[in-house]
Amino acid sequence: MKRVLVWMMLLSTFAFAEYTREDRVADMRAMEGAMADIQKGFLYNSADLINQGSKILRDHALTLQPPRLGDKTLARDETYAFMFARKQQRKIDNHAAQLAIKFAAGDKYQAMHHFTKILKQCTACHTKLRKW
Ligand code: HEC
Repeated sequence: MKRVLVWMMLLSTFAFAEYTREDRVADMRAMEGAMADIQKGFLYNSADLINQGSKILRDHALTLQPPRLGDKTLARDETYAFMFARKQQRKIDNHAAQLAIKFAAGDKYQAMHHFTKILKQCTACHTKLRKW
């Protein structure tokens, strides 16, 4: 009986852990909002908005899951598309951290440089994986 319960608990954990397309769209919308916060942060000179945007980006960039492209071969973790997506995600996380640090240090141009770099990673992943 105990074993059955353990299995049921494990199965339900896996069921909840499944990352759906809706989860991805939610992550994307959160990051889009974060980019808007950051742009406002520059225009209103608000460190709060910059930090908020940077935090939201960092909360979503690493946890989002790239699409598996519906094909068994492409669905594997070691494929080029998957590793490419992971790399863009790590870059977003890193640039979001740097952006907040540079803004806090008063170096707005360097902070903006990181903002542009983030947008570049968004676009790179979209071009490769979303085909827009
Ligand atoms: C891992 C690759 C990847 C990265 C990195 C990425 N995106 Fe996306 N994005 C996608 C995919 C794939 C979709 C399409 C969602 C779907 O239908 O599965 C998408 C869709 C979107 C959408 C449309 C959501 C909707 O309402 O349909 C927005 C907005 C978006 N991304 C913003 C961003 C922003 C902003 C960044 C950078 C901070 C970013 N994305 C980085 C892959 C990525």
